[in-house]
Amino acid sequence: MSDQPVAQLHPNGSLRHLLTLDGLPAETLSHLLDDAEALRPQALGGTALRQMLAGRTVCTLFFEPSTRTRSSFQLAAARLGADILGFDVMASSAKKGETELDTLRNLEAMGVDCFVVRHADNGTVATLAAGAHARTRFINAGDGRSAHPTQGLLDMLTLRQRKGRDFSKLRVLIVGDVKHSRVARSDIHALRTLGAGEIRVCGPASLLPEDDTLRGCRVTRNFDAALEGVDAIMMLRLQRERMEEGLVPSLEQYFRDYGLTPERVALAKPDAIVMHPGPMNRGVEIAPTVADGPASVILDQVSNGVAVRMAVLRAVLAG
Ligand code: CP
Repeated sequence: MSDQPVAQLHPNGSLRHLLTLDGLPAETLSHLLDDAEALRPQALGGTALRQMLAGRTVCTLFFEPSTRTRSSFQLAAARLGADILGFDVMASSAKKGETELDTLRNLEAMGVDCFVVRHADNGTVATLAAGAHARTRFINAGDGRSAHPTQGLLDMLTLRQRKGRDFSKLRVLIVGDVKHSRVARSDIHALRTLGAGEIRVCGPASLLPEDDTLRGCRVTRNFDAALEGVDAIMMLRLQRERMEEGLVPSLEQYFRDYGLTPERVALAKPDAIVMHPGPMNRGVEIAPTVADGPASVILDQVSNGVAVRMAVLRAVLAG
């Protein structure tokens, strides 16, 4: 296996794999968002594009649970006419000790062209890509706390639809468990590259990363103050499965300090939108009345996920 980092772009600048948004040029992000926008009419049904990836095979290889990402990749591949292998890791020979790379090489030998991989460990998708055949494509569906690039793209598409294409006018607030969040990292990468006017980050000190993740962000622990003048509030899931004990005093206290309530939404701009990547902990980071309320665009994010994943599959497979 090569120990060189896997290049995401071909020498001509087109997308080979999608492993992270970090370092991708603004033109690449904008092109994927434009393509996703154009694909939206076909994203939720229809047969017009069923020839686009006919004869190509996409495998979803998820070593962690998922509702939105896996389902929307499978629907995106179906709407582009690809064959889909929804590989069930839990019922596979991985449970008999077969390594992840052997699992991948065996599926590759069956004709898989593109793997969509989710894994609990940072960097595993890039490691698998480095061990695969040069013609095989990889899309990171979330690795550890490192990156969730298609979530970052669908969040940018949702922002662009609601707030326009000029990100320099935008104040975006990201709230909660940033430390464990691959979504926050991909959103910050994309917001920086697209030139967001201001990225604010708010959460308890115990849930904010100490590395350079928050470079260039305005960081505060006071949620009420952080809301002033923001165009978009991106709430994050409290990732209890990745958390050591004691990082939050109690769920009730967390909701009091960092839960998004209707009263707090009223502190943002009058037309501010509320986002959440899902799955939501209702009553922990977000009140149900906000999740289902007029400012919420959470289900638009989910719909945009299908269009974005169609655009990414097309870029890596048909490009
Ligand atoms: N947003 C997200 O990644 O959701 P799933 O874990 O359900 O895929």
